[in-house]
Amino acid sequence: MTTRIIGTGSYLPETIVNNNDLAVIVDTSDEWIRSRTGICSRRLVKDENTTFMCVEAAKKALDDAGMKAQELDLILVGTITGDHLTPSAACEVQAGIGAVNAAAFDINAACSGFLFALHTAHAYIRAGIYENALIIGAETLSKIIDWQDRSTCVLFGDGAGAAVVRGEETGLLFFDQCSDGSKGHVLTCKDRPNHNPLVENAVESSIDNSKNNSIDNSKNNSMELGYVRMDGQEVYKFAVTNVPKSIQKVLSMAGLKAEDVDCYALHQANIRIIQAVAKRLGLSMERFPSNLDHCGNISAASVPILLDEINRGGLLKRGDKVILSGFGGGFTWGTALFEW
Ligand code: ACO
Repeated sequence: MTTRIIGTGSYLPETIVNNNDLAVIVDTSDEWIRSRTGICSRRLVKDENTTFMCVEAAKKALDDAGMKAQELDLILVGTITGDHLTPSAACEVQAGIGAVNAAAFDINAACSGFLFALHTAHAYIRAGIYENALIIGAETLSKIIDWQDRSTCVLFGDGAGAAVVRGEETGLLFFDQCSDGSKGHVLTCKDRPNHNPLVENAVESSIDNSKNNSIDNSKNNSMELGYVRMDGQEVYKFAVTNVPKSIQKVLSMAGLKAEDVDCYALHQANIRIIQAVAKRLGLSMERFPSNLDHCGNISAASVPILLDEINRGGLLKRGDKVILSGFGGGFTWGTALFEW
């Protein structure tokens, strides 16, 4: 028994923001953004929120799977931008689609969130605990972006992607998932400090791995709170080193070569990262579909949205070998090899 993807769905916000729109608010240009990232435009929420996008993507995935919401045993949402700390996005989706028989919770693994959620559902299915699950990756990154910071605000978009999975004889063949918390400081979004009046000098947790000390009062800086901060070049190095390794690991578990896989749906962070991964695997870009041009980087949502575009475009046929791979903050990274 393994885990098969039997339906996909996605939702992108209605508002399109192109690179020239961003050049009005920060010192950047269409040429810089396109040539460094491959991004031409992205969708950003106006009236939508994370729950709304999840519910829309979920309905489409259930429809594609021919499954009713009441048949779901489990709902997992990979996100770092749910609408509330509680209830979770997954519980809100449960209510929104009427999945009255499902357990629901969120997974925070940044851009790897969808992959980690998929692997978690697989573990439940393999253990015989659940049969049918809804896996979603969704982000409203626009609310945690510093719109005055040109080094980050040009990169991200909003959206949601969903997959319905079921226990079947074929599907997920092998997977790999890893974390390296010592590199957490490279890509951060800090939460608000503790303002408890009963405790003197209530501490704010700051991410300072260089001292191997997770609590450091000297690093409080309210300007940093709540916004994505990133060392882009470190993220780039991490991705082009670890993603090919993770893919090779899964290929070797399956006894396959890179060219035996028909389609590689990678996290859409930057076209140059995807090109570098393809090169390291000795493959042309033909097997690496991308939606970066019109979506930008949507963190946990990028892999399932791309998968839905590929699936609805009729680009996958039964028996094809497909690799999904996500990587991001934490650091976290994960790869799954499927027989479609
Ligand atoms: N427009 C114009 N100039 C810019 C912009 C911008 N939007 N952003 C930065 N610059 C400038 C910098 O200020 C710098 O100027 P300087 O030389 O005068 O100091 C110059 O461009 C070069 O900056 P770098 O940061 O060195 O640019 P780089 O070539 O590394 O590209 C990028 C930045 C695209 C982020 C790159 O590092 C990268 O691809 N990193 C991978 C990380 C990534 O994609 N992260 C996405 C989120 S994380 C994730 O999803 C896992």
